[in-house]
Amino acid sequence: MNKEKGEEEELVNIDEKGNYENKEKKEVRKSKQNLKLSNLLLLILLLIIIIVIYLIYKYKKKCHIELIIANNYEEMSKRAADIISKLIKENPRAILGLATGSTPIGLYQELIKQNKNKEISFKNITTYNLDEYCDIPQSHQQSYYSYMQENFFKYIDINPNNTHLPKGEGNIELNVKNYEEALEKHKINLQLLGVGRNSHIGFNEPGTHFDLGVHVVKLDNKTIQDNSRFFDNDISRVPKKAITMGIKNILDADTIILMANGTNKAEAVKYVMSGIIDENIPVSSLNTHKGKVYVIVDKDAASKIEYNKSN
Ligand code: F6R
Repeated sequence: MNKEKGEEEELVNIDEKGNYENKEKKEVRKSKQNLKLSNLLLLILLLIIIIVIYLIYKYKKKCHIELIIANNYEEMSKRAADIISKLIKENPRAILGLATGSTPIGLYQELIKQNKNKEISFKNITTYNLDEYCDIPQSHQQSYYSYMQENFFKYIDINPNNTHLPKGEGNIELNVKNYEEALEKHKINLQLLGVGRNSHIGFNEPGTHFDLGVHVVKLDNKTIQDNSRFFDNDISRVPKKAITMGIKNILDADTIILMANGTNKAEAVKYVMSGIIDENIPVSSLNTHKGKVYVIVDKDAASKIEYNKSN
């Protein structure tokens, strides 16, 4: 039935326009179809190119991390110090984001040495520290303010007015606001980080949103336990709250150096090197950083990196 109808239509065409015209029409139709097909192919090609560019971009984003595995703590400290002193030589007015804890002690000693040898000067350098405990005075031996004086500032030619730490006493809400405003005005060129056993950076404990700025934090039990070594191993003496730069502030820095030594940091280092991004693993936020990240570790801290094992 259908076939008959088709034949009828073809006959109508022959009757009205003749055979020759009909062929020409067919050719026009065919070339239109070909054009449509080549447009479709072009579109598919374009889509493939876009996907390839996206994948290259994604891959490159993961590869901004440079891993340096040092033989030991001294070498790790020297490698990190050399990156900082190179920056200071290039930009004597650089703004540094600093960390406390046991990890950067060797790095500070190396920078002190280079300052004493007149290789670098801190005269025009500005610093902003990551964090400070709440509920203990600045004058407390274990405040991060005291740490910075005792381990770094008092040995170098830095102008004390250019050194900044969040304030953990007094009107905390106002302190948070002031520190956030200061960080918004002063872009950090290089942020130094240690990492907690539970993968915290600054005092951003697991579960912290990556877009959070300066804030007050209730310290994780693991962190309190780890830091009790600075408080005569007495957990009850460790402050339970702190004021910290948020991950957003950390990620605003142009360059980041993450240092880690010892096997108890190996898990955290493995996460950052795996490329994972997870708010329950604060250090994994470094995988979203737009600039350069140096991960400088000793062999023990590198022992769980999967890339390392396969090589
Ligand atoms: C210190 C800080 C913390 C430490 C971390 C590792 O300012 O922000 O994140 O870097 O707790 O501490 P250490 O180096 O003592 O193992």
